[in-house]
Amino acid sequence: MKNLIIAIDGPSGAGKGTLARTLATRLGYLHVDTGAMYRSVAWKAAHDGLSLDDEDAVAAMAERAVLEQHGGTVTIDGQDVTRAIRTPEADKAAAAVARLPRVREVLVARQRALGANGNVVMEGRDIGTVVFPTADMKIYLDASAEERARRRSSDTAHTGGQDTLANVQSELVARDKTDSTRAVAPLTLAPDAVYIDTTEMPIEVVVNHVMMLLLDKIEI
Ligand code: DC
Repeated sequence: MKNLIIAIDGPSGAGKGTLARTLATRLGYLHVDTGAMYRSVAWKAAHDGLSLDDEDAVAAMAERAVLEQHGGTVTIDGQDVTRAIRTPEADKAAAAVARLPRVREVLVARQRALGANGNVVMEGRDIGTVVFPTADMKIYLDASAEERARRRSSDTAHTGGQDTLANVQSELVARDKTDSTRAVAPLTLAPDAVYIDTTEMPIEVVVNHVMMLLLDKIEI
């Protein structure tokens, strides 16, 4: 089987995580959640008392840090941050860190190293546009803001079950705006990406659709 690089981009709540994880399991590929890398760096910056205004210090920490993802567990320098990085505060901190060009440079280099040999499903915002512009398959997942907010608010680990749907939706729309209008590597649809609107599609249907598209690319 050819060692494919599969890039999955799109806004939060579009279903990227579930699609990427399922594809990686079915194909026996490595799954890399690049959002978790930005989230972990934001967590450690706060933990170490680094100001996000000190971009060099945050980038140096991101370069030194040991970032690992295994079976759904996310660690930075051996510290399990799986839950800590999925709070509304962590959402905001990660979006702020993701705007820092030098931090992006460091993390993009690490992402390229992780995917250098293929056999990888990588999800994020700039995978098909910046990290792997020549990826074998690029998928852009989307869904309406209402549906994405509904999915996010039913994820109680993330919202703590506290927030109203309207709040979740307005925060999510604000974050999408930050991610799509920032100067460096904004979320955009690569011209050669397959665009899938998952608003009314159960995730199994999305997975099967993408597996069909992949059949053409996979040499048996
Ligand atoms: O996918 P996520 O919500 O876990 O991502 C966290 C933040 O990091 C979000 O603001 C988007 C940003 N991000 C990014 O800028 N580039 C990526 N490749 C992945 C995430």
